[in-house]
Amino acid sequence: MNNKVSIIGAGMTGATTAHWLAEKEVADIVLVDVVEGLAQGKALDLLEAMPIAGIDISIVGSNDYQATEGSDVVVITAGLPRKPGMSRDDLLFANAEIVKQVALNTIKYSPNAIYVVLTNPLDVMTYLTMKVTGQSPQKVIGQAGILDSARMRTFVAQELKVSVENINCYVLGGHGDDMVPLTHISNVAGIPLDEILPSDKLEKIVDRTRKGGGEIVNLLKMGSAFYAPGLSVTQMVCAILQNKHLIVPAAAYLDGEYGLKGIYFGTPVQLGRSGVEKIIEYKLTEVEKNMLKVSAAGVAENIAKLNLP
Ligand code: APR
Repeated sequence: MNNKVSIIGAGMTGATTAHWLAEKEVADIVLVDVVEGLAQGKALDLLEAMPIAGIDISIVGSNDYQATEGSDVVVITAGLPRKPGMSRDDLLFANAEIVKQVALNTIKYSPNAIYVVLTNPLDVMTYLTMKVTGQSPQKVIGQAGILDSARMRTFVAQELKVSVENINCYVLGGHGDDMVPLTHISNVAGIPLDEILPSDKLEKIVDRTRKGGGEIVNLLKMGSAFYAPGLSVTQMVCAILQNKHLIVPAAAYLDGEYGLKGIYFGTPVQLGRSGVEKIIEYKLTEVEKNMLKVSAAGVAENIAKLNLP
């Protein structure tokens, strides 16, 4: 039997994730949306592309959660995207209602699924999914760090004119403008970024990375990024299904790591078939530790606003 991945929300990020994931040929895909016909139409269109790509998987769309039964992975993208001038936190209450419904509707059909959450504000929505589904924290992960790190890699590559493949960047913390791009651990072919780039250029890259999502929202004016988020989710889903033990930055439940407890937060994690196999702890500078504290306080504040039991 093939692996099965259900993607909830067939909007820009959901459909784009389905597209990238289909190309990997690692799982059958189910798309679910509340809008009548949207998931069905996009799934059929994508399915009809498969003969051209030479890919043998099933792709179905539905408004009914029964179609998700027996999923190995559930990806949550349902929710509202940002508009110009909005922060991710402005989406909190509206998206919490949506994510809660999605979590309840999916867990009853796939009690063993691993969840990858993309809906913003990301760290809080991932926490909410863990609480509502009752899954262990190991099985509920948020996508943010791969995306933020990829944005930083892009800007470094443009600055240094080096292949993106040589650039490793690590962005930790909450998925908001307080995120913490690590400039000493991030490197180009092993050489720390802060030894290669002058501090003014590095500061500009850090700032652009932090505001990377907003830069795209301001350009699009009618939604947020979807290509890079969709591929980031795809990398996580593949690492899980293929049991790759891949280390990537992602939002994971912290239980004392980095001195933080009881929140979802961006950290390097090792992903495999059981979900989060390990949380990797870097040795951080005092400045970085303080930046993480600021970021964590923002996430904790939003979690508290939801008044969860
Ligand atoms: N159940 C299922 N689908 C839902 C529900 C629900 N209760 N509520 C909304 N949706 C669907 C919408 O119908 C829409 O098709 O979620 C989809 C969201 O798609 P877009 O509006 O295109 O938004 P998108 O860009 O995909 O962003 C979704 O991901 O990256 C984050 O910040 C982003 O929180 C946002 C989320």
